[in-house]
Amino acid sequence: MSEFTFLKGSEDWWRQAVVYQIYPRSFADANGDGIGDLQGIISRVPYLKKLGINAVWLSPFYPSALADGGYDVDDYRNIDPRIGTLDDFDQMIDALHAEGIRVIVDIVPNHSGSNHVWFQEALKSPKGSPARDRYIFRDGKGEHGEIRPSELASHFGPSGWTRIIEPDGTPGQWYMHLFASEQPDFNWDNQEVRDDFLKTMRFWSDRGVDGYRIDVAHALIKNLANGHLPERQSYDLSVMKKDGSDDLFDRDEVHDIYKSWRKIFNEYDPPRMAVAEAWVWPHRRPPYASTEELGQSFNFDMLGAGWDAAKVRDVVRLNLKTAADNGTSTTWVLSNHDIIRHATRLGLPNDLDVAKWYAKNRFDPHVNVEQGLARAKALTQALLALPGSTYLYQGEELGLQEHLTIPAEQMQDPQFFRNPDVGLSRDGCRVPLPWARSGQSLGFGPGGSHLPQPAWYVDYSVEAEDGFAGSTLEFYRRALSLRAGLVCEEKWHEVKHWFNSNVLHFKRPNGWQSVTNFGSKPVKLPKGEVILLSQPLVGGKLGPNTTVWIK
Ligand code: NOJ
Repeated sequence: MSEFTFLKGSEDWWRQAVVYQIYPRSFADANGDGIGDLQGIISRVPYLKKLGINAVWLSPFYPSALADGGYDVDDYRNIDPRIGTLDDFDQMIDALHAEGIRVIVDIVPNHSGSNHVWFQEALKSPKGSPARDRYIFRDGKGEHGEIRPSELASHFGPSGWTRIIEPDGTPGQWYMHLFASEQPDFNWDNQEVRDDFLKTMRFWSDRGVDGYRIDVAHALIKNLANGHLPERQSYDLSVMKKDGSDDLFDRDEVHDIYKSWRKIFNEYDPPRMAVAEAWVWPHRRPPYASTEELGQSFNFDMLGAGWDAAKVRDVVRLNLKTAADNGTSTTWVLSNHDIIRHATRLGLPNDLDVAKWYAKNRFDPHVNVEQGLARAKALTQALLALPGSTYLYQGEELGLQEHLTIPAEQMQDPQFFRNPDVGLSRDGCRVPLPWARSGQSLGFGPGGSHLPQPAWYVDYSVEAEDGFAGSTLEFYRRALSLRAGLVCEEKWHEVKHWFNSNVLHFKRPNGWQSVTNFGSKPVKLPKGEVILLSQPLVGGKLGPNTTVWIK
C-alpha cells in the first residue's frame, strides 16, 4: 500500500466533501456473477474521477449471508469472496487514492450476522457461558420459557426476539435482535466485544481507509440493568426519549464507546474521520459529531422537508447553526440505500405517507417522473452550494428513479418479508446501475443482475447520458466541478428574495449565490453571472422547480 502526499496534513478534508455512496453489490460487476465487486469499482474509478467527487463510502462488502444486504456481517476483517479479496481491496484503495478520492467504509457494531463465529459459538455453548455473554441471550417467560422475554418488536417487524435450539436439541433461550433474526445484537457491556471493534478499526485504518460510516450508531447500549428488558413496539423517533434515558437508543453511555474509537482514529495521519448514522433528536446529535467522538453525524432532516421552501429553510438554518455551535460540519442527504430515491419521492405529492401510499398502490404506482427529477436536481443543486458535506447515492447522478415494481419473488429486503402488509422494500433503490444501453445487465457486468433492471433503465444509462448536454449526468459533473472551485469558508448568508416565501436564496462569503424556486410562478434572478441552472430559464426568469447558481 502506498501513502499519498495529498492525505498528509489535510485533516479537514471531510468537512465540505462530496461523498458518493457505493452499494458494492449493485455498482459494477467485473466477473459476471451478477453481483458487483471490488474489481468492478476499480474499473469505474475513471468515471468517479470525472464525476468530481471527493470520497466514496462503501456499504458493507464483508462476508455475509445477505439476510440484510450485507448489514449482517459474518467477519468484520475480511471481504465477501463474491465481492473480492483483501488484495482487491488494497488495489481499490490505491486506485482511488491515486485519483485523490478518499475511502469511507461501513462499520456495523450493533449486531453481527448469525454466521459470525462468535454467534455460532454462543449457540453451541451453555446458558450463562462467556460465549453467550457477547450477545443478549435471555430466558423466555411461561412455564417452559416458550413466551418471548419481552414485547420488543424488531425494526423490520414483527418480534425482536428469536428462540434458539440448545445444543441438547431442546428449545431454549432467546436472543435479542433489533433488526432481522439473522442479525443478533451484541452485548456492548462485554469487554471482548469492545476490544474486537478497536481491532477492526485498526485493521482497516492500517489498510489506508480514511473514514467510517457507523451503522445505527445510537443503538449500541440498551437498558438491560437489573433484569429490565425493553418492550418497544415502534421505532419512530417520536417515541424516543429526548434525554439520554431511552431504553433502546441514544443512551448517554454510548458516547464512552466513541471516545475510545477517537483515540484510535487520532493515532493516524491524517486522523480517520467517522460519520454516525444516528436517528436521534437534533439536539442530541452534537456529541456524536464532536471532535472527541466520531466527528460528523448524519442529518436526515431534509428527508422530511419534501418540496416545501419553509421546511427546507428551517432544516438548513437549524443544521448550520448546530454544526457551527459544535465545531463540526453538517451533512446533506437526499438519498441512500434505505430510502426511496429522491427523484421519485419528489414526484409524489408533498406530505404523502409514502409507506401507506405504497401499501395501497404497489401494483400500479403513479409518480410524476418529470416533476420528481426537476425537483431532485434543484434541491441537490441547492444543497451542494451550502456549507457542509453532501452525501450522494449511486445512480442519483443519472436521475435514476426508484424501481417500484420488482416482483415479490425477486425481492431480497428483509423489511419486505418481515412486514408483508406494508410491502415497502428497499430493493427498488438497490438495483444494479445501468452503464450501457444494451447487454443483459446494461453494462453492469458481463453476466446478469442480482435484482431485475426495468426496461426504462436504458434511458438512464451512463451511455445514454455521457456527453449529452442537458443530461442529468452532465449536470452533476458541471455542478461538482463548479462547487470544487467555489467552496469557501463554512458560512452562509440568507437573502430575503423579494420577500417571496417560496424562494430559498443564500450567499457564500465569496459571492457565490444559490436561488431555488419552490413556487409555481417564475421569479426574477438576482444580478450576476449565471453559472449553473438545473433547468433552462423561462422567459428570462427562474422557473418553478429550478435552482440557479450566480457568481
Ligand atoms: C442501517 C442500514 O443503513 C440499513 O440498511 C440496515 O438494514 C440497518 N442499519 C441494520 O444494519
